Amino acid sequence: MSQKALFIPSKQAQFQVGPADIPKPGDGEILVKVHAIGINPLEWKQQAFGVIIEHYPAIVGQDVAGIVEEVGAGVTNFVKGERVAARAGFNSNAHGAYQEYMLAPADLTAKIPSNISLEAASSLPTGVDTATIGLFGPLDGNLTSPTEKLNAYQGQSILILGGSGSVGVYTIQLARLSGFSTIIATASLRHETYLKSLGATHVINRTLPEAEVIQAVTSISNDIKIVYDTISEPDTQKIGWAVLASGGHLVTTVGATVKPEAGDTRTVKWVFAAPTIPPNRPVCTAVWDQVTKWLEDGSLVPNKVEVVPGGLGGIVTGLDRLRANQVSGVKLVVTL
Ligand SMILES: NC(=O)c1ccc[n+]([C@@H]2O[C@H](COP(=O)([O-])OP(=O)(O)OC[C@H]3O[C@@H](n4cnc5c(N)ncnc54)[C@H](OP(=O)(O)O)[C@@H]3O)[C@@H](O)[C@H]2O)c1
Repeated sequence: MSQKALFIPSKQAQFQVGPADIPKPGDGEILVKVHAIGINPLEWKQQAFGVIIEHYPAIVGQDVAGIVEEVGAGVTNFVKGERVAARAGFNSNAHGAYQEYMLAPADLTAKIPSNISLEAASSLPTGVDTATIGLFGPLDGNLTSPTEKLNAYQGQSILILGGSGSVGVYTIQLARLSGFSTIIATASLRHETYLKSLGATHVINRTLPEAEVIQAVTSISNDIKIVYDTISEPDTQKIGWAVLASGGHLVTTVGATVKPEAGDTRTVKWVFAAPTIPPNRPVCTAVWDQVTKWLEDGSLVPNKVEVVPGGLGGIVTGLDRLRANQVSGVKLVVTL
């Protein structure tokens, strides 16, 4: 059986729609009939630079929501016809998001309750995984996850640089579920009310000069042991490092440009938000196990989304907008 997919035909070639086989689910996998695809900045970087692609033609993309079409051996918690959000994998065309039918690991998939649209649900996978791994992954922030203990960080402060982005909104919400009493986010101030509704206690104008952002943060808290820089430009990393307390950790989403001096007790690490890496898997499966309930009871709210017209072909328009930094406070998605 054949379907349509959006391919990168060869290194740095333009995206192109073409036919692909519909894959069969293996052990522990489900086949999802894709309804909505969330578009991530990584995917324009994959086309432009060839990063995290080992074989061409390549089907990339990370985030889908749709309907379970078929379950593989050993899958007992999903049945055909259920609404789900699922994370794709790297370097496997069968597990790429930019197609009509995608394979996903069942333990990293969540049922989507009827109060959430599939468009909104397609914003969940990468955002939730990146927030989860950066904060709770044993190789990264190594904090106690709310799936182990709710409100473990009462009385403590966290800074989230880039609170209105896809990773940012989930980081704010997981920080709230972790009980942080002070959750400081930087963003454009038009998002202040929205970010406070998710759990931010303070929103600082991200367009202020660096020294003023640092001053604003330190006037709120002088004891920040965890900074999540979802943007990770050199300027934002400098802010994060300047306010990080002794023994603290800075999570970056792209390469770390700050360096601890000899004897510094603080650490910085570029998170690689792949939930299938063995040390990350337990913390991610525990979170995915809770996502349905959190969506139902409002503990977790998906990104605001904007549907870009054009189906698979519309993804290219969305990627161009992300590349040009023309996306603010929404996740771009396409529907099939
Ligand atoms: N390492 C990994 O595994 C991993 C995983 C996921 C993402 N990433 C990377 O993480 C980055 C963020 O991804 P994303 O999906 O969250 O991006 P996104 O949703 O496209 O980010 C858009 C947001 O960035 C905010 N922003 C831009 N410059 C800012 C600054 N200087 N300070 C504060 N906020 C700023 C904007 O805020 P305002 O509109 O409020 O101005 C906008 O809402 C990307 O580079 C992506 O490739 C890495």
